[in-house]
Amino acid sequence: MSSNLNQSDIKNEIQAALDWRYATKIFNKNKKISDENWNLLEDCLIKAPSSYGLQPWKFLIIKNPKLRQDLRVHTWNQSQVTDASHYVVFLAKQQLDIEHIDKHLARVSDLRGVSSETLTGYRNMMTENLLKSDRFKTIRFWAQRQAYIAMGFLLETASLLQIDACPIEGMSPEEYNKILKLENTGWETIAAVALGYRSDDDKYQSIKKVRFDKSDVIEWI
Ligand SMILES: Cc1cc2nc3c(=O)[nH]c(=O)nc-3n(C[C@H](O)[C@H](O)[C@H](O)COP(=O)(O)O)c2cc1C
Repeated sequence: MSSNLNQSDIKNEIQAALDWRYATKIFNKNKKISDENWNLLEDCLIKAPSSYGLQPWKFLIIKNPKLRQDLRVHTWNQSQVTDASHYVVFLAKQQLDIEHIDKHLARVSDLRGVSSETLTGYRNMMTENLLKSDRFKTIRFWAQRQAYIAMGFLLETASLLQIDACPIEGMSPEEYNKILKLENTGWETIAAVALGYRSDDDKYQSIKKVRFDKSDVIEWI
């Protein structure tokens, strides 16, 4: 990070963003996220961390208005689906396979200039731990958890850019899978995020944030 950024400015920005963001219910239909900001948000999805770096996720940006309308019907008719500037559906891998692990290792080898032989130990470890142990039975939930990390990154970065967002789980993932033609692809819908700018009509922007007391959720031992 650039060293000429003032630490206290950064802290103030982060605090302000934490207090400013809220799950936006009504978006301004006419205000769009700039390409420059959107590229940054895509970068933050791509750079989110994942277990072993395996990135068992995909992010579908739904641009087509008809598709958005079809999805809205299966999202408790929430207006964010059609009215937000951008709508991202989060997918996770239903199962992990050796092809996916090798795809990742090929990238490691390429980008870091290391031979695949030097990665054999790492490959064996991932194979043992993820494909051959009991964990394999629950790998679908592991993949979903990874995708939620990317969601957190997206929400926080958006707020720092003063871009509004609403994470969305109020949907039928099965219907999404049908509409997005995901059946038998090995990918499944887990959630979505609508992003854009709040409408002045959204009363939720001015109501008090409700959280448990810090002492209820943070414990020092
Ligand atoms: C994974 C997830 C799914 C959510 N699904 C919805 C949703 O479908 N519709 C909605 O309006 N809000 C949804 N929310 C927003 C939460 O209700 C909201 O974050 C929570 O009440 C706290 O309020 P705040 O985010 O405005 O501070 C979801 C939040 C998360 C993290």
